[in-house]
Amino acid sequence: MSRLLVTGGAGFIGANFVHYWLEKYQDDRVVALDALTYAGNLVSLANAEGNENYRFVHGNILDLDLLDGVLREEKIDTIVHFAAESHVDRSIHGPDAFIETNVTGTHTLLKAAKSVWLDAGSSQHRFHHVSTDEVYGSLESDDPPFTETTPYAPNSPYSASKAASDHLVRAYHHTYGLQVTTSNCSNNYGPYQFPEKLIPLIVINILAGKALPIYGDGLNIRDWLYVEDHCRGIDLVLKRGKVGEVYNIGGNNEWTNMDIVKLVCRLLDDSFANDSQLAGRFPDSPAVQGKRAESLLTFVKDRPGHDRRYAIDATKTRNELSYEPKESFETGIRKTISWMLDNEPWWRGVMDGSYREWIDRNY
Ligand code: NAD
Ligand code: DAU
Repeated sequence: MSRLLVTGGAGFIGANFVHYWLEKYQDDRVVALDALTYAGNLVSLANAEGNENYRFVHGNILDLDLLDGVLREEKIDTIVHFAAESHVDRSIHGPDAFIETNVTGTHTLLKAAKSVWLDAGSSQHRFHHVSTDEVYGSLESDDPPFTETTPYAPNSPYSASKAASDHLVRAYHHTYGLQVTTSNCSNNYGPYQFPEKLIPLIVINILAGKALPIYGDGLNIRDWLYVEDHCRGIDLVLKRGKVGEVYNIGGNNEWTNMDIVKLVCRLLDDSFANDSQLAGRFPDSPAVQGKRAESLLTFVKDRPGHDRRYAIDATKTRNELSYEPKESFETGIRKTISWMLDNEPWWRGVMDGSYREWIDRNY
């Protein structure tokens, strides 16, 4: 039986991971810790409420005393560290929060783990750090995908802060013997993703009849992975990965932004054609006016320093840990759109601020 601390557990991937773990390992203890920033949402964890093996702690990874207390009180033996500022555009406009949470916050968590585990002589522990393919920089169209030995070349304040945190995790292993693993993953999509990220933003804008903003020429490439496949990858790293090692996790699924947006447009046009109730629920959507969703495509100014292409080579993770994504893009994107149509209160709550008011009243 393991006792997990999941930082950033109320965020997109963290919440999916909490649900994944509670369902798969029903005897394990899962403590989700989250500062509930704009990106954290307790509603995403509502299904875990009532499970006696689950607890939510409202807290910040910059708070050493709090971390120390939770690790000791809950006898945590495994940290899965998701908490971060995660949105590239926000890092361009306000990098400070990224340095504080991603660099100083990760370092504070490492210090707490060292003090509670190493200084007490525990040999049974694991610190798993969740990182990103963005630390490797940008690829040209004919470059081979990133491997675990691709040199770091982060280009945005976000990716630079993640790269710094990766280095600190590595240093705590080499210097102090903390038992760490790191995974670098490609772009995730799926339920509970905050609607500032490309796929949920496009779905919601189509439903509202708003412009679909395409940065630059729309030909930047990302490698998309269904979020549950990322959770399974982390599970495999925790169970079978070697301490001190880095594992790439990806979907082998490269798409230009323009192609992704057009696909989402087509799938939503089909949804409106097949479900007459949608017109009543989303009267501003182009399908209701007899137009195609693609009519909303709008080229906008490019993201400064926009990385051209990311692609993950997950050969090491496949060979050493038997990792294979289970979800095809065809099925994953349909599931994601269905989830958004079925969970309108979730994304409306996140967007209209009512959820924030509730947090401010209760936390
Ligand atoms: P997210 O922005 O949806 O969630 C981040 C969570 O961290 C939020 O719940 C937020 O409240 C919490 N948080 C932020 N600052 C905190 C602090 N100081 N203390 C405690 N909690 C804090 O992010 P996500 O997309 O779920 O990403 C999770 C992790 O996975 C990040 O580390 C990110 O770098 C990494 N990652 C994300 C992707 C992706 O495509 N989304 C891909 C690869 C790696
Ligand atoms: O690669 C992994 C990374 O993927 C994670 O580490 C990050 O946390 C996560 O946010 C994501 O970063 P991206 O910048 O790739 O994701 P985003 O959804 O913001 O953008 C995807 C692509 O779509 C990118 O090329 C920019 C473009 N884009 C994005 C938005 C929000 C648009 O063209 N229009 C938009 O409105």
